[in-house]
Amino acid sequence: MIVNVITLFPDMFSGVFSESILSRAIQGGHMNARVVHLREYGLGSHRVVDDTPYGGGGGMILKPEPIAAALEDLPERGHVILTTPRGKLFRQADALRLSSHDVITLICGHYEGVDERVSELFVHEELSIGDYVLTGGELPAMVIIDAVARLIPGVLGHDTTISGDSHYHGLLEHPHYTRPREFRGLAVPEVLLSGNHEQIRAWRRDMAFRKTRETRPDLIEKALPEGEWEGKE
Ligand code: ADE
Repeated sequence: MIVNVITLFPDMFSGVFSESILSRAIQGGHMNARVVHLREYGLGSHRVVDDTPYGGGGGMILKPEPIAAALEDLPERGHVILTTPRGKLFRQADALRLSSHDVITLICGHYEGVDERVSELFVHEELSIGDYVLTGGELPAMVIIDAVARLIPGVLGHDTTISGDSHYHGLLEHPHYTRPREFRGLAVPEVLLSGNHEQIRAWRRDMAFRKTRETRPDLIEKALPEGEWEGKE
């Protein structure tokens, strides 16, 4: 997968692309990242990228021409995403859907917003990573890239499964334990030492359900088909 990022702050991406799983994805040839500095497409000798809003009001708006020029300069654009708090909420299902694209391009929004014509002309979807406002679209772009990259076949090691992830089946994940068997008076649940895989699966499903009901009751109804959650309350 090729991931293009159009940003006013390209240096913010050097860390995420040079560390851990994303760096492995790039080294392993599963992902290729191209970070484009929007300022280079700014207008005039001052490389202007923003302007005041028509109709008044505070803040600055990203102009359409630099973004259009940056997009049109890319060898391939693929599926174009704008990160904005106005976007559709980004969920695990979106990460899975995006992981099947050969090329995605993320435009990092900034300031008060982006001229609407950018969305009308170029953007396939606007995504938000949550109901809060960040100073820019760079962190959301990193979040999206990270969530997508780990789903590209071959990026995670063989011993890592994504089917147990929180949100994969619509529930949060069950608790995990490793050695030691007892830590500061707290023992690992017996069932996990039993070797009975049927019982372990049932316990994990039950714990995932309980955890989800506790912290994200809104997910329960969506995760379990009708009838399946009767008696679990
Ligand atoms: N830009 C600022 N806040 C954002 C958010 N929550 N999601 C996506 N882009 C943003």
